[in-house]
Amino acid sequence: MVNKVEKLKINYKTLEEFKKFKEYGHQELSMLEDLEANIVENDSDSPFYGLYFGDKLVARMSLYQVKKQFDRYFEPPQDYLELWKLEVLPNYQGKGYGKALVEFAKSYGLPIKTNPRVKSQDFWDKMGFTPVHYDVERDRGENPLVWYPAGVTEQVQ
Ligand SMILES: CC(C)(COP(=O)(O)OP(=O)(O)OC[C@H]1O[C@@H](n2cnc3c(N)ncnc32)[C@H](O)[C@@H]1OP(=O)(O)O)[C@@H](O)C(=O)NCCC(=O)NCCS
Repeated sequence: MVNKVEKLKINYKTLEEFKKFKEYGHQELSMLEDLEANIVENDSDSPFYGLYFGDKLVARMSLYQVKKQFDRYFEPPQDYLELWKLEVLPNYQGKGYGKALVEFAKSYGLPIKTNPRVKSQDFWDKMGFTPVHYDVERDRGENPLVWYPAGVTEQVQ
C-alpha cells in the first residue's frame, strides 16, 4: 500500500537519503552546503515531496510553481507547476509510487510541465501527459511534456 505524500524538510537525514537517487547533483549539494553554512535552518521546507516505506525514502519529486507572467506553455496563461526529478528507487518501481506522486501534483488543479528522462515515455503517457509543439527558442533542446486540467489548452507561440 502506498503511503501519504509528504513535503520533505531540508535536514541531514533527507540529504543522506537523496544520495540513493540517481539524479543527485547541484541542487542537492547546494542544499547540503546551505545547511552546513547555516544559510538554511535545519528542517526548513524543501521543494521536494516524497513517499516513505517505513522510514526509508523510496520516491521523490521536486515541484516548483512558475508564475503566470512567465507562462509560455498554457492558454489561458496562468501559474503552473514545473515537476522534475521524479524518481522511484529500483526495488520500489512498478508499485504505484510514481503514479501517487504525479497524482499529488495534479491535485493542485494547475497545469504541469515536466522534462522527462529517457525511456520514461510510456509512464508519462499513462499519466495523461502529452508533448507540446516544439519551439526552438522556448524549449532549447528539451522535450517538454505537459498535463492540462479541464479548460486549459496549449499556448500557440
Ligand atoms: C518512471 C518511474 C518514475 C515510474 O514510477 P513507478 O512507481 O515505477 O510507476 P508506477 O508503479 O506508479 O506506475 C504507474 C503506471 O505506469 C506504468 N509504468 C510505469 N513505468 C513504466 C514504464 N517504464 N513503461 C511502461 N509503463 C510503465 C505502470 O504499469 C502503471 O500502470 P497502471 O496504472 O495501468 O498499473 C520510475 O519507474 C522511475 O523512477 N524509474 C527510473 C528509471 C526510469 O526512468 N525508467 C524508465 C524505464 S527504463
